[in-house]
Amino acid sequence: MSAFAAVWLDLREPADRRARNADLMAAVARHFRDRTQIAVTDLGCGTGATLRVLAPHLPARQHWRLVDRDPDLLAAIEQRCDGRLPVTQAIAWQAHPADVQSDLEVVMALPADLVTLSAFLDLTSSAWLERMATAADVHRRPIYATLTYDGRIAWEPADPFDSQVWRAFNAHQERDKGFGGALGPLAAARLIECLAAHDFTVHHATADWMLGGHEAGLQAELVKGWHQAASEQDVLDRHDLDRWRERRLEAVQAGRARITVGHVDIWALPTR
Ligand SMILES: C[S@@+](CC[C@H](N)C(=O)[O-])C[C@H]1O[C@@H](n2cnc3c(N)ncnc32)[C@H](O)[C@@H]1O
Repeated sequence: MSAFAAVWLDLREPADRRARNADLMAAVARHFRDRTQIAVTDLGCGTGATLRVLAPHLPARQHWRLVDRDPDLLAAIEQRCDGRLPVTQAIAWQAHPADVQSDLEVVMALPADLVTLSAFLDLTSSAWLERMATAADVHRRPIYATLTYDGRIAWEPADPFDSQVWRAFNAHQERDKGFGGALGPLAAARLIECLAAHDFTVHHATADWMLGGHEAGLQAELVKGWHQAASEQDVLDRHDLDRWRERRLEAVQAGRARITVGHVDIWALPTR
């Protein structure tokens, strides 16, 4: 399953919703609570998960610019939002097709009180994150970036081959995802560093997926994805890797698997 397929984004949305750091989301809500309206730009919006989760916490009148390079995902937003946005608020959104590797500065210059990103930063490069921080500084854009994978994975029950798969997967995370060499697990730390260097006040906190036995569908897709990434790295014995996948999927199907995936949320405000 592709990391950007709508069906994958649907599968992960409940886990994402639970994982987002509640204190940071409350801080975002507090920052805008005296306003009656807000404009938000969501970069790499997928099918609009951030709109659905954040809208209830923002002012009564909202305009969202939902930016993604994938027209199929943008086309899926309407159906995913139907009946899932608060009716007590006036929420307008527009799909904005754009590639934020080439067009970041153009998109960041469009009017916005808040720029959000979710499950996105780890795809990007060090140079792109510096561009992001620079553009946020130039236009005084608060940044709320959630669910950036930070390299931590914990499996229960433990398996002797876990650490080798984990190392291969994290190495795979650094492959080019359209932004040059990706920072993967180091991306959140790099954005924090870049924003701090631009005098932003930066808050960050963990936002881990904690997947229990009742989430067999998501767990199984993760195991398959980790297996696929590790095999593409071509550093592990194929038989050992396939046996690891079988053992892991058996545990998932038996409802015995517990998986934690580490993420970081960031909330950053320009001070100037
Ligand atoms: C893992 S998905 C996250 C989607 C959404 N933010 C969420 O939390 O469900 C990453 C998204 O980034 C988009 N994306 C990747 N590279 C992009 C680029 N260069 N410009 C715009 N969007 C991009 C993908 O199409 C995908 O929708």
